[in-house]
Amino acid sequence: MSLYQWSEQYSVGDATMDAHHQRLFEIIDQLHRAVDEDQGEAAVGEAIAELLAYTRYHFDEEERMLEALGYPTLDAHKALHRQFVDSLLACQADLERGATRVAAIKLLTTAAKWLRDHIMSIDQGYSVLLEQGRQR
Ligand SMILES: [Fe+2]
Repeated sequence: MSLYQWSEQYSVGDATMDAHHQRLFEIIDQLHRAVDEDQGEAAVGEAIAELLAYTRYHFDEEERMLEALGYPTLDAHKALHRQFVDSLLACQADLERGATRVAAIKLLTTAAKWLRDHIMSIDQGYSVLLEQGRQR
């Protein structure tokens, strides 16, 4: 059973963004499994690299969409995205210094919590704009 999973309550009203968010949960779950099942450093490292790469891709796409929508507080939203990427990078650096299990658990719990909170409190704010855009 997946511990970290997207569900309908996280929907932001956009199929592409929902799919991206689903993928992010999947990668976090993959990371969780790598740690939980002791799959080894390479598997953990791979999941983290994938999480970073996909997070960057997703944030770029989301920011581009928000810009096109005329989202009013885009700079603040971008700053939150940047902070998250920075925290992932910091955990990745911890791991590279050898703090494997502890750092990996810290990373996945932080990432999962951040993602849930961010989608629920920040990203859902743009669903209204998307809705307005569709009505135009
Ligand atoms: Fe966002």
